[in-house]
Amino acid sequence: MDKLKIQGGVQLNGTVQVSGAKNAALPILISAILGGGKSRFERVPALQDIKTTELVLNHLGLASTFENGVMTLDATKIATVDAPYDLVRKMRASVLVLGPLLAREGRAKVSLPGGCAIGARPIDFHLSALEKLGAKITLEGGYVIAEAKRLRGNRVAFEFPSVGATENAMMAATLADGETLLENCAKEPEIVDLAISLRSMGAKIEGEGTEHIRIQGVNSLSGANHRIVGDRIEAGTFLAVALATRGKIRVEGLAPHHLEAVLAKFESSGAKIHRDADAITLESTGRARGTDFQTQPFPGFPTDMQAQFMAAMCLADGPSLITETIFENRFMHVPELTRLGADLTIRGNSVLVRGKEKLIAAPVMATDLRASASLVMGGLCAEGETTVSRIYHLDRGYERMEEKLRSLGAKIDRVKDES
Ligand code: UD1
Repeated sequence: MDKLKIQGGVQLNGTVQVSGAKNAALPILISAILGGGKSRFERVPALQDIKTTELVLNHLGLASTFENGVMTLDATKIATVDAPYDLVRKMRASVLVLGPLLAREGRAKVSLPGGCAIGARPIDFHLSALEKLGAKITLEGGYVIAEAKRLRGNRVAFEFPSVGATENAMMAATLADGETLLENCAKEPEIVDLAISLRSMGAKIEGEGTEHIRIQGVNSLSGANHRIVGDRIEAGTFLAVALATRGKIRVEGLAPHHLEAVLAKFESSGAKIHRDADAITLESTGRARGTDFQTQPFPGFPTDMQAQFMAAMCLADGPSLITETIFENRFMHVPELTRLGADLTIRGNSVLVRGKEKLIAAPVMATDLRASASLVMGGLCAEGETTVSRIYHLDRGYERMEEKLRSLGAKIDRVKDES
């Protein structure tokens, strides 16, 4: 297993090109199942989660190539509608094959994803949406079996604007008989990107990015041709690095309005933000000010930026109250940041951060994807040498992270963990 060695206390400056968004790429690659032919996707990030998705799709019978950020997927024939536990347990987003397989093949058998480090994360909203579209759902031996000769369009109102459930239902409805109206949908930019890609296949969708998505089912779809949207969370992470190390970083290749709630909080903490058409610059004006925030569905502050913003607030002047409303167990970075000297107190679903003048290096352990990024940030700020172990979490979601950080001046190396 690899770990990262970081010599902290260096101010980071420069420009970073943002990769394609992982959370857009996963459902979009999976949506290739719906098309009768070959799909082509550009700006696909080379990440562990993308490799896992490719493996799942290969298992289902889709042939693939992946080179220089371009993935092709040939869905002419589906070999099986079973997604086994061994594949699904590696990545929860694999449950997104349920809707497309069911819509195209009339049946899907997908392993339940099981628990996840950041909370229970059930899939009940996915299943009830598919039931509304006419699927018969049974649970058997840890598997969800969904069946419907042909799905029927219907009105589906989500209890909560779940990103994955909105995606699953949207994909399933593209091939249903008649019109589907999805209500209380997630509005994340990744949903919008999925709708754009589905339209390139011939799907009839409108309203993505709002609470109501209307889908007119069609009999068949062709292959997709789509370029993945820029990763707003990767961009936000690098901007948080600039704030934490008191530097100036420009991120290029994303739409600033995808990150507006985070940019507003950066501004409240005293940073200068410059927005261009497809780039954002954060310039630190000295020590950050403590800033309160709570995570919300889009367009609110994203839960996927909570840990990284917290890492920056560990060094702020004044306290910050950070409240997590999306996931019930997303503070695993708190004890690890504490090992670097941060002053953090958990109260229910909030963390009180009392900013310190400095952090001190220590060995820490990554626990989930975004928590890992916050620990790397802690290491970049702490005095001395920090080691971050179990960084396979980081490799699931950040493309060439240490290379990009090095280009900004970070002293960071990947080494084999001998212990
Ligand atoms: C997606 C993102 C993840 C992000 C999250 C919230 C991908 C691959 N992952 O995850 O990075 O942190 O959105 O922005 O895009 N819930 C249920 N029942 C369900 C579905 C969800 O109770 O059937 C709950 C979850 O446990 C969680 C909340 O709803 O508490 C939000 O989850 P959801 O929006 O579905 O997140 P994901 O799609 O899993």
